[in-house]
Amino acid sequence: MKILGIETSCDETAAAIVEDGVQILSSVVASQVDVHHVYGGVVPELASRMHIEAIVPVVEQALEASGLAPDDIDAVAATQGPGLVGALLVGFSFAKAFAYEKKLPFLGVDHLEGHLYSVLLSDAPPQFPYVALLASGGHTAIYHVQAKGRYDLLGQTRDDAAGEAYDKVAKMLGLGYPGGGIIDRMACRGRPDAIDFPRPYLDKEKFDFSFSGIKTAVHRYIVSLETQLSEDLQADIAAAFQAAVVDVLAHKVLYAAEVKQCRHVAIVGGVAANRGLRERLEQEAVRKGSDLHIPPLSLCGDNAAMIAAAAHRHLQDGAETSLQDDVYSRHRRTPV
Ligand code: KG4
Ligand code: ZN
Repeated sequence: MKILGIETSCDETAAAIVEDGVQILSSVVASQVDVHHVYGGVVPELASRMHIEAIVPVVEQALEASGLAPDDIDAVAATQGPGLVGALLVGFSFAKAFAYEKKLPFLGVDHLEGHLYSVLLSDAPPQFPYVALLASGGHTAIYHVQAKGRYDLLGQTRDDAAGEAYDKVAKMLGLGYPGGGIIDRMACRGRPDAIDFPRPYLDKEKFDFSFSGIKTAVHRYIVSLETQLSEDLQADIAAAFQAAVVDVLAHKVLYAAEVKQCRHVAIVGGVAANRGLRERLEQEAVRKGSDLHIPPLSLCGDNAAMIAAAAHRHLQDGAETSLQDDVYSRHRRTPV
């Protein structure tokens, strides 16, 4: 089954063709980062307009790169939510129109379920059951994944997402948007123990997160300096902030794996690209005898291959989304 996947939940216009839920025939991602960069965050109205401009060429590129014609596609899937409504509507409506015209099954996919499936597209996918940390700009949560399509939410952030905290700290340091990659690179040049930012474990034995406290601590620290930030100081703040975030993320996901007795552990979402987090988990995984799985960078951030992959099982089961259905901005349903 060759599925055309479409993703437009935030600031990436993406289309991909995935065969049988596992083989990526093509995956195209057009980023709008350069446009939003100057505003220090995603401007929803601009995002929608740019998706409208990009959606047709991006789908055409995905078809061309796969060597397939539109008539070779067996089903169409698009992100239904959560995300920016105006942005989601572009991809979702395009996908509906494509499916209607070609008389194909259509499926709306939950963006978070897509991220969870991204690791199954990597060369060495985890075995079920596994524990997955999903850390992105909009969400931070831990899941116990028992089988394709069967997963329980173990805990999630009560306030900011990890990626959101990175973006906000980068803004405080005057480093631009999106901040994750910039802070990650800067952290390499700083001293992680230069400043002791709080580690908000909440209950160390539970899997909920809270990142707004770290962000506030960084803000207070910067204000308390009453001086212009030198590059060295910026690097120290970035390294110390990253050390605090990585400590919490690494502890919670490995503890969840221990409690659920899962040898296989996965990290997915934009923050899974983080060098500090990857290094820490790689070391800890060796120490604990865990099998760590991280998707390639191209599958960590938003992409459409993960949407097509997530759609496969549901479509195989005969599930379809009505062409009357609408997008949703927050959780309309927990991923099933
Ligand atoms: O998954 P994603 O592309 O989009 C959402 O679904 O949100 O994640 C984007 C988030 C942004 O907040 C970005 O700053 C963060 O992922 N991010 C990183 C890194 N690369 C991207 N955070 C930490 N370290 C990175 N290397
Ligand atoms: Zn995402």
